[in-house]
Order: sequence, then C-alpha cells, then structure tokens
Amino acid sequence: MRAIRSLFSLALLTAACSSRSAPPAAPAVDDAAAPTVADAVTFYARQPRYLQPVPYTPVPAGLPDLRAETCGLCHQEIYAEWRISTHARAWTDDAQFQAELEKSRTGRDVSWMCVNCHTPLVNQLPRLVAGLRDERLDQPIYVDNPNFDAALQQDAITCATCHVRDGVVLGPYGDTNAPHPTRRDPALLTSAACTQCHQATAVFPELTLACAFDTGRELAEGPYGDEGFTCQQCHMPAVDRPLITGGSPSRRTRRHWFGGSLIPKHPRFEAEVAPLRDIYPEGMTARWLDLPGALRPGQPVQLRFEGRNAAAGHMLPTGDPERYIVLRATVVGAGGAPLAAREVRIGRVFEWHPTVRELSDNRLKPREARTWTLDFVAPETGEVTLRLEATKWRISPENMAYHHLEGRYVASRQFIDQTTTLPVRGSAAAAAKEGDEAEEQQPPRR
Ligand code: HEC
Ligand code: HEC
Ligand code: HEC
Ligand code: HEC
Ligand code: HEC
Repeated sequence: MRAIRSLFSLALLTAACSSRSAPPAAPAVDDAAAPTVADAVTFYARQPRYLQPVPYTPVPAGLPDLRAETCGLCHQEIYAEWRISTHARAWTDDAQFQAELEKSRTGRDVSWMCVNCHTPLVNQLPRLVAGLRDERLDQPIYVDNPNFDAALQQDAITCATCHVRDGVVLGPYGDTNAPHPTRRDPALLTSAACTQCHQATAVFPELTLACAFDTGRELAEGPYGDEGFTCQQCHMPAVDRPLITGGSPSRRTRRHWFGGSLIPKHPRFEAEVAPLRDIYPEGMTARWLDLPGALRPGQPVQLRFEGRNAAAGHMLPTGDPERYIVLRATVVGAGGAPLAAREVRIGRVFEWHPTVRELSDNRLKPREARTWTLDFVAPETGEVTLRLEATKWRISPENMAYHHLEGRYVASRQFIDQTTTLPVRGSAAAAAKEGDEAEEQQPPRR
C-alpha cells in the first residue's frame, strides 16, 4: 500500500502551512443546512495560497469564452506551443495524476487539494468545497459549482490561469491594440507567476500527505537567483514575433512550451516533445575526469567520473518528490567482459508510512559538480570501453506497476549515453614498476 503523494518538506514549513496546526475557527457548516457557494468563497479565503483555486473570472468582453482554443484562434503560435506543454497535459493526459486522484477519493478525499494546482481556475471545478466535516482536510463538504465549464477543465493549466483576472487579460505590455480588455501585469514577468504552484511546502502527517515543491526557494537562494534569473528566462525562451498571425507588430515575446524534463506524459506525445530537446538543455552533464591515454596490462586503475547540474537554476531534479536520476558508469573489456560498474541514484527518498518523513536528499544543487570513483584491474590485452549513461525518472518502475500505468504513462527517459575506449598497451612489468614507484612516493607514515 502506498500513501497518497505528499506535498511538503518538513524543514520548510511556511507561515501558511504552520498556521494549519492552529487553524482559525472554520466557518460553521451545518450538515443539515445545504452548503452554498458563498460558504465555499469563505472557506477558500481562509486556506493557504496553494489550497485556493484561482478566483472565478467572468469572460473578458469581446471573447466568447475562456478556452485556450478560443485564445488560439488569434494567438496561433503561442497556442500551438502551449498545446504540447506539460501544463496543457496536467489533467486527463496525466495518467499518474488521475490514478492518484481516483485512489484519494475513496474514503479519505484529498482530491479537492490537488485540483487547485492541476485545474486551477474556479471555472474548472465541478464542485467547490464549502467546509470540512470535523475540520478534517480529507472530509470536504462539497457544493455544486454553477460556473463549471467542462471543456475548460480539460485545458488544465490554461491561458486564463496566468492571464485572466476579473474579466481582464493580463499581459507584459499594456500598450497593445487587442479586441479584449488588457492590463500590464509586472508580476507576470517575475517568478511569482510560477511559484504560486511551484513553491508549496507543507506536511499533513495525519493524511500521510506532503507538498514538497520548493523550486522557487531553490532558485532564489542559489547562484542563479543572485544573478536575477527568473523561471521564464529558462523555461520560456525569448523570441521576436507578432502576437497574432498577420497584422500585429513584432514584439519581444516568449515561447510557451514550458519545457522541463521533456519526458512526455503519454507514449503518443513522444513525437511532439522530441524537437524540444534541441531547444532546451538537459539539466545534467556527465564526464570522465583525467582519463589516461592508455592502460597497462594488469594495472589496478581508479577512474573518476563527474555529474554536474550544468543548466538548472534549482535542485536537480526539482519539484515532485518522486523524481530521480540514475547515473551509471561501466567498464567492459574485450568481448564485452564486465570489469566494473557503478550506479548512482540522485534524488530524494521519502517514507510515507506511518508518517511522512524525508529520509534523504542527495540532489545536485545549481552548478554543483560531484565525483565518484570506479576501481578495476586492466585486462592483459586489447582495449576497455568506458560507458556513461544517465536516465531521469518521473516515477519509479514499482510505482508505475502499482498504479497500472504501463502503456499510458512514460516513466523515464535516457538522456546521456557516451562511450570512450582506452587501449591497453605496454608490458605488465612496466605497470608493476609504475605501481611500486607510486608506492615509494607516498609520504612516510608518522
Ligand atoms: C501547490 C500546487 C500543487 C498541488 C496542491 C498538487 N500538485 Fe501535483 N504537481 C504540482 C507541480 C508544480 C507539479 C510539477 C512538478 C514536477 O513535475 O516536478 C506537479 C506534478 C504532479 C504529478 C506528476 C509528477 C511527475 O513527476 O510527472 C502528479 C502525478 C501529481 N502532481 C499529483 C498530485 C496529486 C495526487 C495531488 C493531490 C494530493 C497534487 N498533485 C497536488 C503542483 C501541485
Ligand atoms: C480575436 C482575436 C483574439 C483573441 C480571441 C484573443 N486575443 Fe489576445 N490579443 C489579440 C490582439 C490583436 C492583441 C494585441 C496585439 C498587439 O497589439 O501586438 C492581443 C493581446 C494579448 C495580450 C498582450 C496584452 C498586453 O497588452 O500585454 C495577451 C496576454 C493576450 N492577448 C492574451 C489572450 C488570451 C489569454 C486570450 C484568450 C482568453 C486571448 N488573448 C484571446 C487578439 C486576440
Ligand atoms: C496553476 C499552477 C501552475 C502555475 C501558475 C505554473 N505551473 Fe508549471 N506546472 C504545474 C503543474 C501542476 C505541473 C505538472 C503537470 C503534470 O505533470 O501533470 C507543472 C509542470 C511544469 C514543468 C515541468 C515540465 C516537465 O514535465 O518536466 C515546468 C518546467 C513548469 N511547470 C514551469 C512553469 C513556469 C516557468 C511557470 C511560470 C511561468 C509555471 N510553471 C507556472 C502547475 C503550475
Ligand atoms: C503558466 C503561465 C502561462 C500560461 C498557461 C500561458 N501563459 Fe502566456 N505568458 C505567460 C508569461 C509569464 C508571459 C510573459 C512573458 C514575458 O514577456 O516575459 C506570457 C506572455 C503572453 C503573451 C504576450 C507575448 C509574450 O510572449 O510575451 C501572450 C499573447 C500570451 N502569453 C498568450 C497566451 C495564450 C494564448 C496562452 C494559452 C494558449 C497562454 N499565454 C498561456 C504565462 C503563461
Ligand atoms: C538557469 C535556468 C533555469 C531556471 C532559472 C529555472 N529552471 Fe527549471 N529547469 C531548468 C532545466 C535545464 C531543467 C531540466 C532538468 C532536467 O534535465 O530534467 C529544469 C527543470 C524544471 C522542472 C522539471 C523537474 C525536473 O527537475 O526536471 C520544473 C518543474 C522546473 N524546472 C520549474 C522551474 C521553476 C518553477 C523555476 C522558477 C522558480 C525554474 N524552473 C527556474 C532550468 C532552469
């Protein structure tokens, strides 16, 4: 049995989260009286930010509805980019999310918490939470949402999530000639536009639930934060182009692919995600350090290899606590005879039962390089082949199996596969002699 995922990291309880242990008196919801939408408004207003949906917004004047497809009628390129983003895939296309949501609805229902980030607009929620039975987070009291738009729900993290408030379209300029009301929103140009969902740390031990999204803080407190980087600079590459196809002036805009790990959410999305791998760098690089030109027969060898967080402004991996990277170094002799292998797992380990606890965290900090060693004895002749392979995982094979996700979800992606060969030359005697000399050069023992 596995716990529902957790959303927090213990050391980092924010004011909002810790206030959960001494919550303000909940609105009195009488089970006998039918809960109302007004109760829901009051309820959400008392929650920490990550448990609040984006408030209801009327459709901006001049537009028929809030759907991404509608925005895409004019903003065609941006729509095409967003369409293949993970944000657009965060609802039905995410089989793991759907599986977890389904499990969380049986008895102990925390699904209402999840949808605040995955289908964040109030207009995307079929039911709203009007209160909690016995103040328990897993006992929501629902009320039907009269403003529910089922098509908009499919859009998941949609244009309106980031761009529409109170019937006005928020944008970076404010001087555009648009057929809908617009307003310049400076916050859209900062990481704050992302951290409302990508920064949420809290633990609910009684629910074996935690929020472990610390990406905003990882960026702010690291070297890229000091240099003034925003999430947009790396995840939304800049490009000059008109906002709508034909007619409007060329402007400095940003791509809307929101590329990250570039592991597609479903096997059938592989083809659309693949071209993005030429645009976005991989977070991690790997290499051998100080390789000799050749090995001597029978020589004991220690090689060093390095993994580096070369491109991510935050921890690698970041976000979801289940993500990890496996770096594997192998040495084989002639005919493929294995001489040595070492596998390193980079990520966090959580314990979910009986309570939520982070057991370890060996992720790579921004720009951090770490080295590992590999020992073996060189063969007598021929050559050895060194191989470095790295694979990133969004979910482990065990959890794939647990949720029955085979064929409906993509667990991982190999992103490094390098081979190098080293010839074995010279005589064994020379190798032995070198070994002796090396020993002689040791500082005398005290
Ligand atoms: C505070 C906002 C927030 C809440 C609440 C939230 N999520 Fe997420 N979720 C995210 C973000 C941000 C990501 C992407 C981070 C990443 O991929 O590393 C994500 C990713 C995921 C993924 C994909 C993981 C992956 O590696 O691809 C699953 C599955 C998921 N969430 C399930 C849930 C479930 C189930 C709940 C409710 C118990 C929930 N989420 C609640 C923000 C949230
Ligand atoms: C009927 C065509 C049309 C539709 C539909 C449309 N837009 Fe626009 N939008 C425009 C035009 C035209 C501009 C201004 C272009 C310019 O002057 O460079 C614009 C400007 C914008 C801007 C920049 C505003 C600023 O001043 O910073 C944003 C953001 C935007 N639209 C988002 C959206 C979103 C989100 C939707 C859907 C909810 C949407 N648009 C629907 C035509 C449209
Ligand atoms: C309303 C909540 C929300 C906001 C705002 C938001 N995100 Fe996300 N983001 C998510 C969720 C949820 C996921 C994971 C979806 C899934 O895996 O199903 C995600 C996934 C991602 C990914 C991971 C892609 C991958 O699979 O590796 C990146 C990168 C990302 N977001 C960047 C951004 C950036 C940059 C911004 C700000 C411009 C932003 N997000 C704003 C909720 C949000
Ligand atoms: C996760 C948040 C997010 C989502 C979802 C999103 N945008 Fe944006 N959008 C931004 C941000 C941030 C900017 C400002 C980029 C900048 O100029 O620094 C922006 C800018 C824009 C602009 C102005 C041109 C530009 O690139 O700066 C338009 C037009 C626009 N978005 C339309 C859309 C449409 C249409 C959709 C849906 C198909 C959409 N956006 C989805 C965050 C988002
Ligand atoms: C200096 C560039 C840079 C900045 C700044 C940056 N990122 Fe990333 N981010 C990356 C790279 C590169 C990856 C790809 C990691 C990989 O190879 O899987 C990534 C991956 C991600 C992922 C997917 C999870 C993972 O580890 O692969 C999420 C979610 C994400 N970033 C969110 C954000 C958010 C939110 C911000 C702002 C708070 C941000 N990033 C700022 C470069 C950056």
